[in-house]
Amino acid sequence: MNEVSIRDILNSSEIVDKKVSISGWVRTFRANRFIALNDGSCLSNLQCVIDFENTDDEVLKGISTGAAIKVVGTLVSSQGTKQNVELKVDSCDILGDSEPETYPIQPKKHSFEFLRENAHLRTRTNTFGAVMRIRSNLSFAIHEYFKNNGFYYVHTPIITASDAEGAGQQFRVSTLDIKNPPIDENGSIDYKKDFFGKETNLTVSGQLEAEAYAMSMGKVYTFGPTFRAENSNTSRHLSEFWMIEPEVAFMDINGNMKLAENFLKYILSYIVNNNIEDLRFLENRLIDEEKQKPQNERSDLSLIEKLKFVIENNFKIITYTEAFEILRNCKPNKKKKFKYLIDKWGTDLQSEHERFLVEKEFKCPVIIYNYPAKIKSFYMRLNDDGKTVRAMDILFPGIGEIVGGSEREERLEVLLKKIKEVGIDEKELWWYTDLRKFGTAVHSGFGLGFERLVMFATGMSNIRDVIPFPRTPQNAEF
Ligand code: 4AD
Ligand code: MG
Repeated sequence: MNEVSIRDILNSSEIVDKKVSISGWVRTFRANRFIALNDGSCLSNLQCVIDFENTDDEVLKGISTGAAIKVVGTLVSSQGTKQNVELKVDSCDILGDSEPETYPIQPKKHSFEFLRENAHLRTRTNTFGAVMRIRSNLSFAIHEYFKNNGFYYVHTPIITASDAEGAGQQFRVSTLDIKNPPIDENGSIDYKKDFFGKETNLTVSGQLEAEAYAMSMGKVYTFGPTFRAENSNTSRHLSEFWMIEPEVAFMDINGNMKLAENFLKYILSYIVNNNIEDLRFLENRLIDEEKQKPQNERSDLSLIEKLKFVIENNFKIITYTEAFEILRNCKPNKKKKFKYLIDKWGTDLQSEHERFLVEKEFKCPVIIYNYPAKIKSFYMRLNDDGKTVRAMDILFPGIGEIVGGSEREERLEVLLKKIKEVGIDEKELWWYTDLRKFGTAVHSGFGLGFERLVMFATGMSNIRDVIPFPRTPQNAEF
């Protein structure tokens, strides 16, 4: 017997009269006759028609919402208007029944909050199935883009001893007895007795190690989980998230901006070309959601139009100073509508400012570069003006910052001075500074927050709904 997926069936041209076997989960069972079966391979269910008069009562009872079943039968053209093909069932096995009264995923609309509490079952819904299939394909497209463009994939470590990024609070990795840790002669915890013989943490970024590989293999990228222990409970922050970080030798900030724009356009086109069924479903979901909003808050573009807009139009590129001038003179700033008012050059941009630039001023993705050195990391290339660095952030509509990157400081003396200024012991970074001693060169890279990308691609508005099992402050269920 041909064991097939629903996706195979719907994508195939010669299916009618074929005898097949399919396993999946029952979405609904109507009139003791029509099973809507979903196997997760695609959004669509397969309608399976069962002859109840010739089916065992036990089996009929077992076909309830949520049950896992295996059906064998013949594919026939459907009489119904909703589908072209359906399965005329010859036999049905109940693989795992489901308690209809307590099964959380009833065939009705559930709130995302409720589904987050049932994250182990939420991919049984259309929305989460669609989101996670898109997530999977985006991830594939990322590898494909880099493969096609001569990059090597590097697995940077998850456990790290360098707290150098300064990207926020880190999670400690330790096997010491927390109730009774060893104490050194100064009365502090003696990490020499810890597993690695020093203080270690979960990484906030693979960049520093990726730089070492770029400075030997030329074009590399990492794509892995990163961890930040900041207590920011927002719809755009996770404590564990995935980041894509390309790093390229002999490439300057301009090349970096071009790479990021090309890369984003490629991966978004990939899902427009490969996930259209899922995207249309999510688009309709959003259209329904928008109807609840007042007219002036509704978005002008549908989800797919928004993706195409980003794919087809140039990103707007401006310096921090230009962004600062626009913001300082804009209406919401003058009318004191911003929570953080813009008046002094050098202040960091908050998400309200980023969103103003992207959503009101330019209405397209914006790349801001040449930021004040004081608000950016020590490793970013200092410009000749002595006060700005070759940093770049990419801001997306509805998301805000999606990419952060820079040209790296390749000059040993300048780097050492910066390390000292931020109070890091240069000995901790001996290997990183070595890269500036032996064959240093201009190089650049960036980090793309994978979940923020998935949010943009799916139109989901909470980052907790685009990662299978989200980790946020006070929450590590599942
Ligand atoms: O701007 P960030 O902190 O940059 C770095 O970590 C650099 N080392 C990257 C590099 O140059 N290789 O983070 C990069 C991106 C952000 O733009 C954002 O999209 C995402 O990572 N990000 C988060 N996503 C979810 N939850 C969080 N808490 C995030 N923090 C950053
Ligand atoms: Mg950043």
